[in-house]
Amino acid sequence: MKTILLTVAICYSIDAAAQELSPSMSNGKIIFQSNCVRCHGDDGKLGKFGAKDLQKSKLDDKRLYKIISNGKWLMPRWKKVLTPEQILSVIIYVKTLRYK
Ligand code: HEC
Repeated sequence: MKTILLTVAICYSIDAAAQELSPSMSNGKIIFQSNCVRCHGDDGKLGKFGAKDLQKSKLDDKRLYKIISNGKWLMPRWKKVLTPEQILSVIIYVKTLRYK
């Protein structure tokens, strides 16, 4: 019985670690809400400190990756704060705002 419980626990934590590593929209939403909402707002339209309207943004993935990593003017650089996987997750989420 103990072995079964241990196996289940190990499998569960491997699964959780895998989720953390693979970019996903749900991770992106959490990352967006804790780091980006204060300037961009929940819907991407807040525009605080001159933040661009993310619903109107037309940047492709490559440009999104670049601006989120390196920042631009008052847009902070995130590459020291977020892992590449987290940046990819937040890109997936940011693009869903375009369909709001
Ligand atoms: C301190 C305020 C602030 C925070 C926090 C912030 N941004 Fe920005 N963001 C800006 C500003 C200002 C710009 C406009 C930069 C420019 O082009 O002059 C911008 C631009 C952008 C753009 C470019 C849009 C376009 O079409 O040009 C994207 C994408 C973006 N931010 C995503 C994010 C994400 C994702 C986060 C969280 C990880 C985030 N921002 C956090 C202020 C912020």
